[in-house]
Amino acid sequence: MDLSDTRKKYKEDEECFEESHLASLDPVRQFGNWFDEATKCPEIREANAMCLATATKDGRPSARIVLLKGYSNEGFLFFTNYESRKGSELESNPYACLVFYWEALNRQIRIEGTVERIPYQSSCEYFHSRPNSSQIGAVVSRQSTPIPNRDYLRQKNAELEKKYKDSEVPMPDYWGGYMVNPYLIEFWQGQTNSLQDRIVFTKPKDGACDLGEFQHAAEGGWVYQRLSP
Ligand SMILES: Cc1cc2nc3c(=O)[nH]c(=O)nc-3n(C[C@H](O)[C@H](O)[C@H](O)COP(=O)(O)O)c2cc1C
Repeated sequence: MDLSDTRKKYKEDEECFEESHLASLDPVRQFGNWFDEATKCPEIREANAMCLATATKDGRPSARIVLLKGYSNEGFLFFTNYESRKGSELESNPYACLVFYWEALNRQIRIEGTVERIPYQSSCEYFHSRPNSSQIGAVVSRQSTPIPNRDYLRQKNAELEKKYKDSEVPMPDYWGGYMVNPYLIEFWQGQTNSLQDRIVFTKPKDGACDLGEFQHAAEGGWVYQRLSP
């Protein structure tokens, strides 16, 4: 199958993303601005779906979609099984990359950061705010481990529904949240003429503030620059 001629019409040059269009020089707030636009866009059903890339200690990458469950100056939050493939990769190599792609807006955001488990109590609060069926689902599934067939899951699910009919489902200790604390956030917007806009914010280590030739100071210890598409 040759897909070399497949091209979509992107934005026109007058709709480009200039530095003066940044809603904030704090990249987390800028993320919030684009995220809000994505959630309001009727063609985008799950604006919070993001690709999460992790890697083993020796650098073999893997990626999958997870849901963003919150963001703030502390970072970007998602929940998962700590013993899953991503979980074990993050335990041995606590770095991750998140990518959002909002096709209807011709926008992509890339976030790179260090990753930490959130406090147990915060995971518990979120766990118990979920519907009962999701809580049971998290207990049923030892994510990323081989199982004999679908009936195995059905049966375990039924057993647990019975067991926890009248009581709270305890959060398994292998389940919880991770926070990605960003040191890079890149905003990308597609243009028809292939001159896509890329504005990347980075947080220099230890707040070092020597600006490179095309770098500009931003807020909160961040700097930003434009990259060639
Ligand atoms: C739209 C969508 C949302 C998902 N959200 C999550 C999530 O929030 N947490 C999670 O652990 N898995 C989520 N998954 C499943 C993951 O993509 C993946 O299959 C699972 O986490 C196991 O990944 P791993 O074996 O690489 O650890 C989601 C999948 C899709 C398609």
